[in-house]
Amino acid sequence: MVADRNEPVEITLKCPAKINLFLEVGQKREDGYHEILTIFQTIDLYDELILHPGVPTGYFRSNIDLAWNGSNTLYKAVKAVEKHLGKELALGMELKKKIPAGGGLGGGSSDAAALLRYLGETFHIEREALFEVACSIGSDVPFFLRGGTAIGTGRGEVLTFPGDLEDYSVDLCFPGIGVSTPLAYTLLGRSADGHELGNKEVEKLLSALRERDLTLIGRLSKNDFEGPVFAMFPEIGRAYDKFKEKREAIATRMTGSGSTLFSLFEGTKGEYRFITSTDG
Ligand code: C5P
Repeated sequence: MVADRNEPVEITLKCPAKINLFLEVGQKREDGYHEILTIFQTIDLYDELILHPGVPTGYFRSNIDLAWNGSNTLYKAVKAVEKHLGKELALGMELKKKIPAGGGLGGGSSDAAALLRYLGETFHIEREALFEVACSIGSDVPFFLRGGTAIGTGRGEVLTFPGDLEDYSVDLCFPGIGVSTPLAYTLLGRSADGHELGNKEVEKLLSALRERDLTLIGRLSKNDFEGPVFAMFPEIGRAYDKFKEKREAIATRMTGSGSTLFSLFEGTKGEYRFITSTDG
């Protein structure tokens, strides 16, 4: 069948959520960001981004209340790419959001990264330039350019890929309130003085995950935000206790700066499975 040249083209991108299997926050830097040490992992909960090339940019529809302005990571991505290319794009969009916003699952970052990957391919943008654009949108965006399993340091943008973990899954619990990321960092009260990061713990945790040493995984997985966020928002702490009680999981953690909680399982016992960088 010959495609009709006048038929409007529609492109659907899948934008996965992430969890942090390990998250430590170190010192506060001069630029206002914090040094972190984390293990990122993408899972098969997706936002769907439908692109309409040729439709004027600014045509934006979503199933959540999200404006087309600087608060929207997709808007930021379009503006940053337009600046890089020195020309305006014509790209209408629809965003079907399934990843809770403000939940620490990286939805906004993932949406922007999926769009950047598409624009990078379409306009032949070099990897380094695309990485710089990703960094300018948010600390988690560079991770989502690839996804899978990654160790993140710096402010989250310095990435190494130790090999994708497979055959794990998670159940998620969104306690119903979002946590602002800058607020969560403030709650930690970190100073500019050194706060040691547990590089050895990350290596041990990755080995435990590969070797399926479930007890060690439970002992080593951590999130520095849990204490301060649960103290500030007791309803999240209560949700954590309930969620943990109900499941016999390898580990139960909060992801990112909150508020989503996850329970980790072997195999496909949980609702969402780990996905590799080549999935989806
Ligand atoms: O980079 P992103 O937009 O996700 O960061 C939002 C805010 O979270 C930053 O402005 C900063 O206050 C805080 N942040 C931080 N250290 C990081 C990442 C984020 O202090 N490593």
